[in-house]
Amino acid sequence: MAAAPPPTLGAKAACVIGGTGFVAATLIKLLLEKGYAVNTTVRDPDDKKKISHLLTMKSLGSLNIFQAELTDEKSFDAPIAGCDLVFQVATPVNFASEDPENDMIKPAIQGVVNVLKACAKAGSVKRVVLTSSAAAVTINQLNGTGLVMDESHWTDVEFLSTVKPPTWGYPASKTLAEKAAWKFAQENNIDLVTIIPALMSGPSLTVDPPSSMGLAMSLITGNEFLINALKGMQMLSGSISIAHVEDVCRAHIFVAEKKSASGRYICCAVNTSVPELAKFLSKKYPQYNVPTDFGDFPSKAKLVLSSDKLTKEGFSFQYGMEDIYDQSVEYFKAKGILKN
Ligand SMILES: NC(=O)c1ccc[n+]([C@@H]2O[C@H](COP(=O)([O-])OP(=O)(O)OC[C@H]3O[C@@H](n4cnc5c(N)ncnc54)[C@H](OP(=O)(O)O)[C@@H]3O)[C@@H](O)[C@H]2O)c1
Repeated sequence: MAAAPPPTLGAKAACVIGGTGFVAATLIKLLLEKGYAVNTTVRDPDDKKKISHLLTMKSLGSLNIFQAELTDEKSFDAPIAGCDLVFQVATPVNFASEDPENDMIKPAIQGVVNVLKACAKAGSVKRVVLTSSAAAVTINQLNGTGLVMDESHWTDVEFLSTVKPPTWGYPASKTLAEKAAWKFAQENNIDLVTIIPALMSGPSLTVDPPSSMGLAMSLITGNEFLINALKGMQMLSGSISIAHVEDVCRAHIFVAEKKSASGRYICCAVNTSVPELAKFLSKKYPQYNVPTDFGDFPSKAKLVLSSDKLTKEGFSFQYGMEDIYDQSVEYFKAKGILKN
């Protein structure tokens, strides 16, 4: 006799906060394909170019678009009303900010609390899934190589806000927003689960190519600024850890539907370093002249991000390094960013 399917929350309607984003776009598509009625929020519903992929996806099922802004508490009431599941994906991303406190940290925290307040008010919400980040886990002052980071680890915000390394505002915002979400959820009896993705790549449904793909693909495109940013990522976060956007979105739905899921879940398919990634890409795509000489830059990553909790829960990754890069290369060719 076939094993009974695992218990699910029996959800039918979902709200995805931030429908214009890279992750949200694929998440909405997968939810519609699974038969969910989806509400999504965008900051500017009149920006027809930015929401064009959402308009196209209306043909897949029931998709309603609402206006909402993370700092406007009341704007989440209408889109969340009647939903069983809420995915809080949106976050302010501004790596070049000169005022990270006001541009990223405050609105990120306010945003998760506002969304959770609307969930508490709605009365229909069975579970909230918050998209956190590896940046909320891996940044610390530990030394060494081969460290294994799991869901018990948190980024050291005191270190970030004291030393202020480049781009410190983003990891600080993600860590503090996730901590604020846990506090609010515990105090208000909300069933919260967080997904902690690594750097994502893979084809995007959005009109413009996402910034995280620019970073993941920098060794192939040869963009010096982004190659330096990738090196900076390894130095600050301890590794180059990557996942396919579709796997990350499937993981969001997996933990949303599975009754036994609880707490934080790291979602990372591959752990590597800039020199190791460059070696792999140079061999696989000789036509792109991928740089492989990084002088005394550390060839080994300091740490690995472990997805053991997610896979032990029953999730399987569909895409490894080859698939992630093959599909990203094809996508960049289709967008005219890569020529051959
Ligand atoms: N991409 C990655 O590699 C990666 C890795 C780890 C974690 N994550 C997390 O995954 C989530 C999605 O990332 P992404 O790559 O999809 O980012 P993205 O493409 O930059 O999307 C960010 C979304 O947040 C919305 N947003 C920003 N500020 C807002 C505000 N004040 N009010 C309402 N909406 C606001 C944006 O709306 P507009 O279009 O109006 O700006 C956009 O829809 C984020 O939580 C991010 O931290 C991403």
